[in-house]
Amino acid sequence: MSASFEQKIPFYSARITQALESALPAAAATPNRLHEAMRYATLKGGKRIRPLIVYAAGECLSLDPALLDAPAAAIELIHAFSLVHDDLPAMDDDDLRRGLPTVHKQFDEATAILAADALQPLAFATIVNASGFSADTKQALVGLIANACGSFGMTGGQSIDLESEGRKLTVAALEEMYALKTGALIHASVISACIIAGHLGHEQHDALDQFGRCLGVAFQIKDDILDVEGETEVIGKPAGSDVKKQKATYPSLFGLQQSHARCDELFDKALSSLTDFGADAEPLRWIARYVIDRGN
Ligand code: IPE
Ligand code: IPE
Ligand code: MG
Ligand code: MG
Ligand code: MG
Repeated sequence: MSASFEQKIPFYSARITQALESALPAAAATPNRLHEAMRYATLKGGKRIRPLIVYAAGECLSLDPALLDAPAAAIELIHAFSLVHDDLPAMDDDDLRRGLPTVHKQFDEATAILAADALQPLAFATIVNASGFSADTKQALVGLIANACGSFGMTGGQSIDLESEGRKLTVAALEEMYALKTGALIHASVISACIIAGHLGHEQHDALDQFGRCLGVAFQIKDDILDVEGETEVIGKPAGSDVKKQKATYPSLFGLQQSHARCDELFDKALSSLTDFGADAEPLRWIARYVIDRGN
């Protein structure tokens, strides 16, 4: 029997660190303060859940992990950029991230804005410069990640998040916001493996598509639960930040009990979409369980 996905996490973590290290400019390169901030935002911790989803989806489709390093790194770079902006005073105004001062606290606001500005194109350059892909595959990956990141994806969701502060949203509107601000990049992590696999049957594609959508929304609900139930020292970011900013969240609008129940429901739906993959989908099942059970 092959090693469990959990046992392979050190292997995949080393891969993603290496891929990010080689994508990022050296700290000594001019302008070095900007490069130090980009490296700080990307390399100092983080669960690496999106890269792990790329590798887990790759295992499900029997792909060579070497082909997954570029999309895994690209999506993590976009994620890192999104966190730097998310923490700015103009957005969530948080001072702690991954147990360390946020980028605008460690450096300054202008440097944080510019570091995030530079991480975003670096993500696309990582795909464009990757070897082992056809031009068509690169084009599809760039398109996927651009859509997931843009105004109909993460950035659009962040905009709705800000507009929704202090307001009551329906379940449907709240979940749409989650699907955009958080779900889009998680979904793209799954679909990037589908693109690299090439011509998947539409049943397999639709199954993974549904898995990615359910997992994305569940991930944000769990993040919101941890903002209420978690401790700052464990989650590495200020607990209670959502209440302070009057964020529209699942716990604030519908209570903790319903938040847990919806997480469990989305977990079940995510798993049910994987049935036809049999044992090949074990890595994705492990990820889904981790997302629901995690403490940070
Ligand atoms: C935090 O994401 C932001 C959300 C989309 C909820 P993660 O919980 O994946 O953050 P890191 O990368 O592990 O720090
Ligand atoms: C952030 O959601 C989603 C992003 C696109 C960064 P949150 O604002 O809840 O993320 P945290 O809790 O600050 O990590
Ligand atoms: Mg936010
Ligand atoms: Mg935030
Ligand atoms: Mg949060």
